Amino acid sequence: MSAPVAISVFSKENPFHAKLAENRLLNKPGSAKETRHFIVSLEGSDLTYKAGDSLGVFPTNRPGDVAEIIERLGASGDELVSPAMLKLAAPITLREALSQRLALSGPTAKLVNTLLAKTTDAAEQARLSELVKPEAKEALAGFLDEREYTDLLAEFPHAKLTPQELVDHQRKLMPRLYSIASSAKLYPREIHLTVAVVRYTTNHRERLGVCSTFLAERMLVGETFAPVFVSDSHFGPPEDPTKDAIMVGPGTGIAPFRAFVQDRVATGATGRNWVFFGDQKSKTDYLYQEEWENYLVKGQVSRLDLAWSRDQGEKVYVQDKMRASAAELWTWIKNGGYFFVCGDAKRMAKDVDQALHEIIAEQGAMPIEQAKDYVKQMKKDKRYQRDVY
Ligand SMILES: Cc1cc2nc3c(=O)[nH]c(=O)nc-3n(C[C@H](O)[C@H](O)[C@H](O)COP(=O)(O)OP(=O)(O)OC[C@H]3O[C@@H](n4cnc5c(N)ncnc54)[C@H](O)[C@@H]3O)c2cc1C
Ligand SMILES: NC(=O)c1ccc[n+]([C@@H]2O[C@H](COP(=O)([O-])OP(=O)(O)OC[C@H]3O[C@@H](n4cnc5c(N)ncnc54)[C@H](OP(=O)(O)O)[C@@H]3O)[C@@H](O)[C@H]2O)c1
Repeated sequence: MSAPVAISVFSKENPFHAKLAENRLLNKPGSAKETRHFIVSLEGSDLTYKAGDSLGVFPTNRPGDVAEIIERLGASGDELVSPAMLKLAAPITLREALSQRLALSGPTAKLVNTLLAKTTDAAEQARLSELVKPEAKEALAGFLDEREYTDLLAEFPHAKLTPQELVDHQRKLMPRLYSIASSAKLYPREIHLTVAVVRYTTNHRERLGVCSTFLAERMLVGETFAPVFVSDSHFGPPEDPTKDAIMVGPGTGIAPFRAFVQDRVATGATGRNWVFFGDQKSKTDYLYQEEWENYLVKGQVSRLDLAWSRDQGEKVYVQDKMRASAAELWTWIKNGGYFFVCGDAKRMAKDVDQALHEIIAEQGAMPIEQAKDYVKQMKKDKRYQRDVY
């Protein structure tokens, strides 16, 4: 059973300023992915954590993006502002607000209305009027999805927002959570993370995920600090060490299961471990390959099923591997095994959930309605846990 975690003086409200001890690329050359292993040092704090917890990180925005907005506003950055969302006791500089306190992405429909009210240019007025028409709701949502604040300032320069007007439309810059990929039993003064660096293109511009690139590029190992906090979770390995654990974690979803296995090995848990991992290509995207292979050789992981989605023409996903071993999976579950899923919520976790229901119905020879009840009971008993995002 996991030991209760002592209350620290550090929390979301009073984050610890931590240094990075390591920043290592996990993918091999030729990969389409950029997944990084970070080690966050807990030295100087009384923070502790348990397998299944997440680390909250407060990022800052990219200086280049901040400078671009300041320039488009025709400001210096030293102007004092008091963003409506922040409810500050005293104003702060525009630069500080844009760097540390406000999100630069996710512009709202309200901003489009403000731009329309303020622009002095006929062509801009015409474009904005089209966008705010009641029948153009979908088009407006699509338009906003493709843009950040800086794009709107660039496209509608005649609206000439003041710094205060802009910041009043912005949302708070929120901390991001990352599943902890290490066990405190092995690494009491470190937290390991497995982070996919987010990069994509919209409106012909490369977009960079704020926090994943903050960790990857703006945090300098051993030098700069990031405000962090441990987010307690109900997600965690079986309390009973004799229970079997089935862990399904493609992509960065593998992170907490590295922690679970480390934890169960460190405590001498006798329950078996079955890991399902998947990613694009076996040659370049096998995260923590040596560690998994060592666990397998030592029998600390009993089964390791790998789903490489782009090694062949047809996609192979973790749920295909589950279906291929349906009988054995059912035996583990029937005998009290725990089933864990971590990673993408939108597609993967839904499809894995569906596969789990089908496997239970088929292998347990029960109608799908009864399989649904079986899964509901597993959830109640904490035998089916998900950490999806
Ligand atoms: C409990 C929990 C645990 C998590 N654990 C991990 C983990 O272990 N590892 C990990 O890497 N992440 C994890 N995440 C996700 C993490 O919190 C961040 O959401 C992620 O790193 C992206 O943050 P960012 O600031 O880099 O990107 P943001 O600046 O927040 O940008 C991400 C946003 O960009 C948009 N976007 C992204 N890709 C595209 C695209 N292709 N096309 C159009 N728009 C797109 C989407 O709107 C998306 O929400 C976890 C989340 C939760 C809630
Ligand atoms: N746009 C989205 O909806 C979305 C969702 C999750 C993650 N992401 C982004 O992707 C980046 C990397 O995330 P990640 O490394 O954790 O994982 P990931 O790249 O999303 O996926 C890891 C593996 O899961 C596979 N996969 C895709 N759809 C699946 C499904 N329905 N069921 C099971 N497996 C499926 C992927 O295959 P293929 O890619 O070959 O299909 C890949 O092999 C991050 O930047 C994250 O933000 C985007």
